[in-house]
Amino acid sequence: MASFPEDVQQEVLLTAEAIRNRVKELGEAISRDYRGEQVFLVGVLKGAWVFLADLARHITVPASFDFMSVSSYGASTQTSGVVQIIKDLEESIEGRHVLIVEDIVDTGLTLTYLVELLKTRHPASLKVCVLLDKPSRRATPVRLDYVGFEIPDAFVVGYGLDFAGQYRHVPHIFTLRSEVYS
Ligand code: IMP
Repeated sequence: MASFPEDVQQEVLLTAEAIRNRVKELGEAISRDYRGEQVFLVGVLKGAWVFLADLARHITVPASFDFMSVSSYGASTQTSGVVQIIKDLEESIEGRHVLIVEDIVDTGLTLTYLVELLKTRHPASLKVCVLLDKPSRRATPVRLDYVGFEIPDAFVVGYGLDFAGQYRHVPHIFTLRSEVYS
């Protein structure tokens, strides 16, 4: 019998090495763009924690962090379109250079909601960094300032992304065999 995660894996979309290289490039671009500033990273839980942890270690300007938690798909792979704040920021973002760090943009509904909400709190600037972009699924336009990879319309897991709470700890990004969903 194949061992985990090969036993549930259909296809490897992004290897750990490809992710590592791209995350380094994103960190370097962010460091260049925010030179002379302090950046306040807002990680969107739970999916973005792995990405944020790796990205942050390539950011060479002063940085601090906070996290928000919003409702996602639960155990299904379909978006409900309803966004619920489960955990809000603990610090004020007024006058700060805020960079939202998100794992994946699919329909764009979650990110649009977050951007509109954080704008009302008067940050000095507000940008978005996502690891994965599924442009073919977009239901609402959203501006992405930093994108790791554009991917096709497939449900992916690993490197922070889950299905029913599983697979977040796997260091690469992959699709699941259809048996896993049923
Ligand atoms: P959106 O609101 O449709 O853009 O969805 C954003 C959220 O849905 C992400 O933060 C993820 O939590 C979840 N999501 C979207 N696509 C995937 C996927 O392929 N795998 C795992 N989670 C996903």
